[in-house]
Amino acid sequence: MYQETYCMLKPDAVAKHHIGEIVARFEAVGLEIKRMQLSEVTPEQAAANYAEHQGKPFYDGLISYITSGPVVKMVLGGEDAVKVVRKLMGATNPLEAAPGTIRGDFGLIMDENVIHGSDSPESAEREIKIFFAE
Ligand code: RTP
Ligand code: MG
Repeated sequence: MYQETYCMLKPDAVAKHHIGEIVARFEAVGLEIKRMQLSEVTPEQAAANYAEHQGKPFYDGLISYITSGPVVKMVLGGEDAVKVVRKLMGATNPLEAAPGTIRGDFGLIMDENVIHGSDSPESAEREIKIFFAE
């Protein structure tokens, strides 16, 4: 089924010049770029996006990291876009992400795992509203 998902290249992906290589992977499988913006994540957006992790030991680091520099915010559309993007991203921990996945190929550590993607259609709808309000 056609759906749209929210995806974000995290600050280290931008700082290390991986934007083009990562976006090329989405285009290669046929996902459509519906929205795309280079900008910073506001503290309000960070808190809303990661509300499920509030109170966890890694929460403060996660928020300060995601607000530490520009990110690329995207809405991607296509058949089963949510699952396709999660598959291309690979496991959360780059150590466990398979070679060939984005997290497996770019970056080394859990706290800088280069990319965020919505984990369900419900999250996608919520996150698109957070990052592309209006
Ligand atoms: P994301 O939300 O960033 O797309 O990542 P995810 O769904 O694969 O993983 P999630 O469980 O939502 O975790 C969000 C981010 O928090 C950091 N994290 N650290 N130290 C830890 O145990 C731990 N667990 C999660 C990661 O940077 C992860 O991307
Ligand atoms: Mg998540």
